[in-house]
Amino acid sequence: MKDFVSIRDFSPPEIQYLLLLGRHMKAQPETYKSALAGKTLAMIFEKPSLRTRVTFDVGIQQLGGFSLYLSPAEINLGRRESVYDVAKNLERMVQGLMIRTFAHEIVEQMAQWAAIPVINGLSDYSHPCQAMADYMTMWEIKGRLDRLKIAFIGDGNNVAHSLMFAGAQVGANVWVATPPGYEPHEDAIVWSWARACETGAGCHVSNDAKEAVTGADVVYTDVWASMGREAEAEKRRPAFKNYQVNADLFARAKRDAVFMHCLPAHRGEEVTDEVIDSPRSVVFQQAENRLWIQKAIMVHLMKDVPVGLMHPATAPELVHA
Ligand code: CP
Ligand code: NVA
Repeated sequence: MKDFVSIRDFSPPEIQYLLLLGRHMKAQPETYKSALAGKTLAMIFEKPSLRTRVTFDVGIQQLGGFSLYLSPAEINLGRRESVYDVAKNLERMVQGLMIRTFAHEIVEQMAQWAAIPVINGLSDYSHPCQAMADYMTMWEIKGRLDRLKIAFIGDGNNVAHSLMFAGAQVGANVWVATPPGYEPHEDAIVWSWARACETGAGCHVSNDAKEAVTGADVVYTDVWASMGREAEAEKRRPAFKNYQVNADLFARAKRDAVFMHCLPAHRGEEVTDEVIDSPRSVVFQQAENRLWIQKAIMVHLMKDVPVGLMHPATAPELVHA
């Protein structure tokens, strides 16, 4: 496990292990306060962020390490410098790299070319750190993940994909309901179905929000137009209006169902204030759990990456001394 690019890259026990480690981090943070002493995480952001930036930044500091924020203007990935050259530079300077970008292939290329761990902090295709925080939150609240009914209502986007992947890994029943034409990618559905068959999980995709929410343990939504697609917001609004999570729709879920959202939320669009501000909304617990699960991911990937001497060819006399 060098990188954390997609939840699909792992076995079910590896995902369970990371969730367990995240919960242990949260229960006993002191145990890990020097786990990444002296190590540096570079964070490349090509899109805006609140939660991802703050939780990685604070997380690595709590583990004894440092972070570097690299803004879109500084790196200008692929224009000022190629993805390959950025990877080959950074692997000599830092011990881990988090990247938030547009095309998923850029994350994959970075992971292929950099000798250090690469963590996907969101691409147009997936948001694996978010899904890990989400399943950690569901486990805390519901005491189990196996056979939980999770309804994702709205756009079949990056967040929906990662929820489907992780759900298939941990044995949950994920129901995705989108407007026609906004379903998840076909390859995401096929992979999730196949993995669900192995683990006893379920993956259902339809255009029926009411059916998806009926009897659900968790009701989840996300913005109707993701970062990079803001220009489509106006066009999407009429197509999505019957996919709003409001009190009527939420009432179809189980009486003890919780509401989830990765945030940022567009209140009055995909969710009403009444639902997101209700006592059954756990959106800020989800946001906090980004911190704990990412600390687990960073420790797991970065703990054995040495500071210096990654490239013995540059200092042979030290290596052979
Ligand atoms: N949920 C999430 O990734 O939030 P940010 O875009 O603020 O990082
Ligand atoms: N689907 C959203 C998630 C933001 C955390 C986006 O990509 O903008």
